[in-house]
Amino acid sequence: MGTVITVAMTKGGVGKTTTAVNVAAAFAMNGHSVCLIDLDQQGNATYAVTGQAKYNYNDCGLFDLFMDFGKMSQRLTAYIHETRIPKLRVLPSTGMTNQIPPLLSILKARHAEIKEYQVLDACIRPLKELFEIIVIDTPPAKDALTISGIYAADLVLMPVNADKFSLDALVETCSLIQSINREDNRDVDVLGVLLTKVERNSATALIRKKLHTQEFAPLMLNTEIRKGAAVTDSTLLGGPVLMTEPRSNPAKDYLALYQEILPEVLGEQK
Ligand SMILES: Nc1ncnc2c1ncn2[C@@H]1O[C@H](COP(=O)(O)OP(=O)(O)O)[C@@H](O)[C@H]1O
Ligand SMILES: [Mg+2]
Repeated sequence: MGTVITVAMTKGGVGKTTTAVNVAAAFAMNGHSVCLIDLDQQGNATYAVTGQAKYNYNDCGLFDLFMDFGKMSQRLTAYIHETRIPKLRVLPSTGMTNQIPPLLSILKARHAEIKEYQVLDACIRPLKELFEIIVIDTPPAKDALTISGIYAADLVLMPVNADKFSLDALVETCSLIQSINREDNRDVDVLGVLLTKVERNSATALIRKKLHTQEFAPLMLNTEIRKGAAVTDSTLLGGPVLMTEPRSNPAKDYLALYQEILPEVLGEQK
């Protein structure tokens, strides 16, 4: 059974998509079969691994997978697409992703036994048979899809930046994980908190100190992702920075992150 890593943080702009894309790429480039799932209606993760806009996947992406829920004839493989990396596939966000929340309300009315945020987990269960690693990118809010992504996770990876609002969002995201575990009797583990877009300045040093001394200390990953223009360039090129500029600082850091998390991720595989 594959391991599901969800990249979540209820704040935007902290590096979730960049992290999801590069973690997925790192596993794939090191020989693992990986599926990246894009839960964000912006479709940035989809673009980052395919170079294609989300509209190119209308009728064969995330929304369509949800539409199949409860039907006998699931067309799962029709929704999984090739990327620029051979062992990496993507379940893309499309122009219909913003219609998933209303769809979930309809599904909930039809299937009284399931909660809205449990549908994704049920839909992607067959994917765990097909891939060693599933990486889920989530939207920047505490919405139905973010909660669905956390519910479906074995491990949650939480990117933060060196600012005060990141710390508030970290508290919120941690409590979301705890409440899912408590109320639904789940066993979602924290893979770690990842400091991203790191610069050498006093604000970063202060936040780093706070993170390492407060209750988050046991959750902090050793790896930090440095800020680098190569990430912005990679966005324009439509490829993960690990692929477009492997010698850049952020790419080296994402590779180090892969090496750090590998034992725990493989340890989850049943
Ligand atoms: N290590 C980095 N160095 C420089 N820019 C980065 C880095 N990581 C992310 N960014 C940039 O920051 C912005 C937000 O990143 P993104 O991954 O989209 O965050 P989120 O998904 O949390 O909203 C993007 O413009 C991205 O290119
Ligand atoms: Mg994002």
